[in-house]
Amino acid sequence: VLCLTRSTDPRWAAIAAGDLASVLADHAHCEMKAAANALSLAARSAASTRVARALVALAEEELAHLRAVLDLLDQRGIPLGVPEVDDYAADLRKRSLSTGKKSATDALVDRLLVGALIEARSCERFLLLAGALRARGGDGEALAAFYEDLLASEARHYTTLVDLAIDVGGDEARVRDRLGALAAAEGEIAARLGGRPLIHG
Ligand SMILES: [Fe+2]
Ligand SMILES: [Fe+2]
Repeated sequence: VLCLTRSTDPRWAAIAAGDLASVLADHAHCEMKAAANALSLAARSAASTRVARALVALAEEELAHLRAVLDLLDQRGIPLGVPEVDDYAADLRKRSLSTGKKSATDALVDRLLVGALIEARSCERFLLLAGALRARGGDGEALAAFYEDLLASEARHYTTLVDLAIDVGGDEARVRDRLGALAAAEGEIAARLGGRPLIHG
């Protein structure tokens, strides 16, 4: 899926579909973090209101997703709870920082690319989850349709964030090289996951 170098352990889908309360609560927190991250990136886009506007639009879409997931929690009587530590996202950020001190532009490019990879992985996970929900039939169908809808917009967010990284970085070949290196790191991190009922678990 998209630029991912490694697929999620196929056993994850059944684990996630078997504990929807945990998945939905975690998903709400993921959308909240995605919106907050988009705004935090907009705040760093000092050079261009065009980039800032694109990130604000992204944040708005993530907030719409958040509201939709909060509705699902309410319909099912699931509490939002406190966010799980997202080791996946934290590890990926750490890997992106391990290349040492960078210019402000390169640091922003990296943050945009890390965001793009998280979108790509979420998109892959939504696809797997939708498949498992469809296979169950019954009321799983409606939730499967919800995830199929969302995965299309997360795929778009991936493209938007890569395009913004190229816009900010200015040198497409260099940004795509960097995306390749970060995607390889993301694949190593993702290889250790797949056992928990969390969007990035
Ligand atoms: Fe989203
Ligand atoms: Fe997204």
